Amino acid sequence: MSDFEPKIVCFSCKFSWGYLANETSLSSQIKNWIPIICSGKVDAKHIMEAFKHGADGVLILGCPEGDCHYQDGNFETKKRVQLLHKVLDSYGIEPERVRMELSLDPEGKRIPELVKSMSETVRGLGPVRQI
Ligand code: FES
Repeated sequence: MSDFEPKIVCFSCKFSWGYLANETSLSSQIKNWIPIICSGKVDAKHIMEAFKHGADGVLILGCPEGDCHYQDGNFETKKRVQLLHKVLDSYGIEPERVRMELSLDPEGKRIPELVKSMSETVRGLGPVRQI
């Protein structure tokens, strides 16, 4: 069995994910958890930088469709992620390494579960090929 431990970077919108949670506690459970003001702030550059700095996968958590506090930030990032999947694929990087979830989780209970699920997916893919 491989001892590969994937490094997952998780950007999560503070409006829908974990705003009632203890951020210190969540941070201790999730190594690379980055609370942000809106998922619309995550662009392709941030995702590619995460890979350049050793991430094996990137998880983006945004508000439910139609509920972004900045009009359509989540929708814009969802479109970017779909486009980025094609770019990553052309570099031989599996699109499953970038995932976006649009939902609501005020207590942040699902965040560790989603990161764990993403880790398991990425563990199956192996370390990311350097770009
Ligand atoms: Fe949450 Fe925009 S405010 S995704």
